[in-house]
Amino acid sequence: MNDFTSNFWVIYTAVIIVASFLGLVWLLVSQNKTKKTGDTVETMGHEWDGIEEYNNPLPRWWFYLFVITVVFGVAYLLLYPGFSTFKGIWGWTSANQYEEEVKAAKAEYQPIYGKFANQPIEVIAQDPDAKKIGQNLYNTYCIQCHGSDAKGAKGFPNLTDKDWLWGGKPSEIEETIRYGRTGVMQPYGGLPPFPADSVRDVAQYVLSLNENEAFRSKSNPQSAAKGKVIYDQICFTCHQEDGKGLVGLAPNLTDSVWLWGPTEKDIENTIMKGHTNQMPAWETFLVDGDDTSKLRILTAYVWGLSDHTGEAPEILPYQDDTAAAPADDAASVSIGDDGVVKFYFATGSNELAANANDSLAAIVAGAGEGKKVVISGFHDATGDAAQNAELAKNRAMAVQAALVALGVNEGSIELKKPESTEGDGNNAEARRVEVALQ
Ligand code: HEC
Ligand code: HEC
Repeated sequence: MNDFTSNFWVIYTAVIIVASFLGLVWLLVSQNKTKKTGDTVETMGHEWDGIEEYNNPLPRWWFYLFVITVVFGVAYLLLYPGFSTFKGIWGWTSANQYEEEVKAAKAEYQPIYGKFANQPIEVIAQDPDAKKIGQNLYNTYCIQCHGSDAKGAKGFPNLTDKDWLWGGKPSEIEETIRYGRTGVMQPYGGLPPFPADSVRDVAQYVLSLNENEAFRSKSNPQSAAKGKVIYDQICFTCHQEDGKGLVGLAPNLTDSVWLWGPTEKDIENTIMKGHTNQMPAWETFLVDGDDTSKLRILTAYVWGLSDHTGEAPEILPYQDDTAAAPADDAASVSIGDDGVVKFYFATGSNELAANANDSLAAIVAGAGEGKKVVISGFHDATGDAAQNAELAKNRAMAVQAALVALGVNEGSIELKKPESTEGDGNNAEARRVEVALQ
């Protein structure tokens, strides 16, 4: 079979190939006349400053190299496709080769993946091999949106907390990953019930629903009362009357987990402009026919990220300043007698200890009375200095964000340049951020 309607091109290419080979062989032979002993050496007949060019045959090694290439060429055209429409004795095609490679890869990985095909997600999550594969899959497909620590970013949900937009049961996570999800909140800006001030009023009411005192106290009561009327007409259908939302329908507006940011501006923006937020479907990448083992391994990995392995970062008991610095590699927070709040961090992490908000209550109150809040970052002296300084800055900014989320005005917070400390040989002590009132 060939793709041409006439045989002309088939013959044309065959003739060109044969002619080139014959030409090459002729060239080789013609250049290979050996000298007979006694012959005078011919020259090419030109001369530069007394230097002449001899007409000698090719060096032997060079000649045989050419012979080998010609033999190779002929053998190649016999075995592989290349000579016009001839398919080659071995019948090789790139499609065949690809299929064979896929088959070989499957044979290699199937025993590893197959092990997990029938295990419950909860069991897979405990398996160290599955965790490694899961991490690799995560790094390949998910990291660009949900982040290297899976904690997400604005618009991309944190996968390590227990707050789920679409449900945190293994089956729900599996469905999310396989088929994707679209979170839609329509824009209300400019719609009839939303003339100018109403957006602000509703945002104030949303703030007033928050379980966090610092948020609630920020909301203006008159404005919130007007906002409630609109909320009860429109927003409650999805976010529910109490604002707690419903998994699979709309997020909880009363907790401290914000997909789109906690400031009044963020909330007003959501109401004005809405959001259409797409989690892509990964079925084509993770499911092969009936084989869902890759999908299940990744599901187990994601499910395991939010405490289900029993390996959630340990939260150390509340510490006062006189107690020794916390063990290496756990986030914690303590308040000194002087009222200075000290945050300690795990290596390489800028995550605040879970009870951070409680520990900041006095600082928030002080800021409310008009005092200045000073945040100083420290880092240990190990490793790359520039990286340490960057991390210390990120940690200080994480504390700043927590304060802003608690209602402290950004203008009254001062961030100090990070300092390196030896920490008396105790790196955990050195990895800290201090918050003080001034
Ligand atoms: C292109 C960006 C993007 C990529 C890549 C991506 N996601 Fe998502 N993912 C999202 C967005 C956006 C949402 C939130 C959708 C919404 O607002 O409802 C989401 C939501 C989720 C949720 C639901 C969270 C919840 O609270 O219910 C899970 C689970 C999830 N993603 C897992 C993954 C996994 C696993 C991968 C890798 C296979 C992945 N995502 C890759 C953007 C992405
Ligand atoms: C049709 C259902 C629906 C209605 C009605 C609705 N929302 Fe939403 N809202 C959503 C969904 C879904 C999201 C999450 C969007 C996403 O996944 O990115 C959301 C997100 C939000 C957020 C951001 C939450 C966060 O964690 O950052 C706020 C604030 C909000 N809505 C307020 C309102 C207010 C106020 C109203 C009434 C004017 C309203 N919503 C009406 C479905 C709705």
